[in-house]
Amino acid sequence: MIKFPKDFIWGAATSAYQIEGGAYKDGKGLSIWDVFCQEPNRIYNGQNGDITCDHYNRYPEDFALLAKLGIKNYRFSFSWTRLFPQGIGKINPEGLAFYDRLVDEMLKNDITPYATLFHWDYPYELFCRGGWLNQDSPLWFAEYTELIAKHFKDRIKHFFTLNEPQCFIGISTKETIHAPGIRFSNRDNLKMAHNVLLAHGHSVKVLRQNIKDVVVGYAPTGRYFHPTNNKTDDIEAARKATFDFTQDNWEFSVSWWSDPVILGHYPIDALEVMKDLMPNIKDGDMEIICQPLDILGQNIYHSAAVKGSDDSYEVLAYPDGHPKTAFNWPVTPQCLYWPLKYLYERYQLPLMITENGLSALDSVSLDNKVHDGVRCDYLQKHLLALNEALKEGVDIRGYFHWSLLDNFEWNSGYNERFGLVYVDFNSLVRIPKDSFYYYQRIIATNGKNLEEPWVI
Ligand code: GCO
Repeated sequence: MIKFPKDFIWGAATSAYQIEGGAYKDGKGLSIWDVFCQEPNRIYNGQNGDITCDHYNRYPEDFALLAKLGIKNYRFSFSWTRLFPQGIGKINPEGLAFYDRLVDEMLKNDITPYATLFHWDYPYELFCRGGWLNQDSPLWFAEYTELIAKHFKDRIKHFFTLNEPQCFIGISTKETIHAPGIRFSNRDNLKMAHNVLLAHGHSVKVLRQNIKDVVVGYAPTGRYFHPTNNKTDDIEAARKATFDFTQDNWEFSVSWWSDPVILGHYPIDALEVMKDLMPNIKDGDMEIICQPLDILGQNIYHSAAVKGSDDSYEVLAYPDGHPKTAFNWPVTPQCLYWPLKYLYERYQLPLMITENGLSALDSVSLDNKVHDGVRCDYLQKHLLALNEALKEGVDIRGYFHWSLLDNFEWNSGYNERFGLVYVDFNSLVRIPKDSFYYYQRIIATNGKNLEEPWVI
């Protein structure tokens, strides 16, 4: 039996660099992604974010679509360098005017804005000054936060400080497939991570100092696990794996990035492993990092099966022929059940799925529609799993589907389509996919129609 709270938040998510375009328009400064896209062999087929979906000009059409979809909640991000071309100091009035228009258009369409302050498009000027390695970087982020908090305090009440530090510190500065694409040592990555956590803490303080009744969240991701079956050993093992720590992949862990923010300390056992590489943690640092949060967001796309035995566990390979997405990610609806139970037990905070979705081999049929049954199937299975967690008492406040529009998928360029809306990247025409209309019905029935077969 389906039971979503009557005030459950149904939403869709995007990010500035992936949908706006206008990369060099109206005074916007360079971000590290603008520079990264100009480097050879970094992005699929040499693609870039110069135009993307041209949301910079077409946002009225996109918000009209959101209104048609019945989505009342939209997670977007600010482009830091559209507001501060050098990252700090001089404010770009045309950038501020753009976001005034954008937010006012959302409100005009009765859409509640959920603003992510940082979704990877770091100011290139600040990167040249050391970026997250610079001890002033937390205060740079606080200055950026303050402009947004003061200017939008009457129109935006929901914020997420950071999107996926696991990626902008891990995939970008260890694996180097994301901007800035430079390999840093573990010691430097740990120092950057500490400054990122300090930046989060300062940002939360600034939001609360400037906006009455503000709702502040954080949107990490991580490695997620589920038990291979319902045996106690496996359930315990999957819980342990969810918060466990591996020295060679610490940056993608759940606990490294959430224990300090929510519990006020780095994961104890992990700190022991990393102690020789850790930066100097100054008195007061952990108190700055650990600010009260209203929401713990999670970007969850899939999870891995774990089999437990005594005090060890094994992460199992996916069975031959296991369902997967166009991106070759496994389809594991249980990723919206077990990990949410484990996260809620550990952190005792209301949760929000700030991203979940899939890329599919979408194309326009002869009837000029996009029949993405695979995305309808994904939505049904994942939301049914989420509903089970809700019914068992996990406080899940909302679900933001990734993504509203097909968009620039970072180093994969336009090769991966995640949208509920198809975008022709030559004509920039938008076509709502079948999943758009399915999600519209899910929202209209507050999930009740999930019990019926999805048919368009
Ligand atoms: C992420 C980012 C999004 C991605 C999406 C698909 O989670 O990696 O927040 O920007 O586009 O997740 O990879």
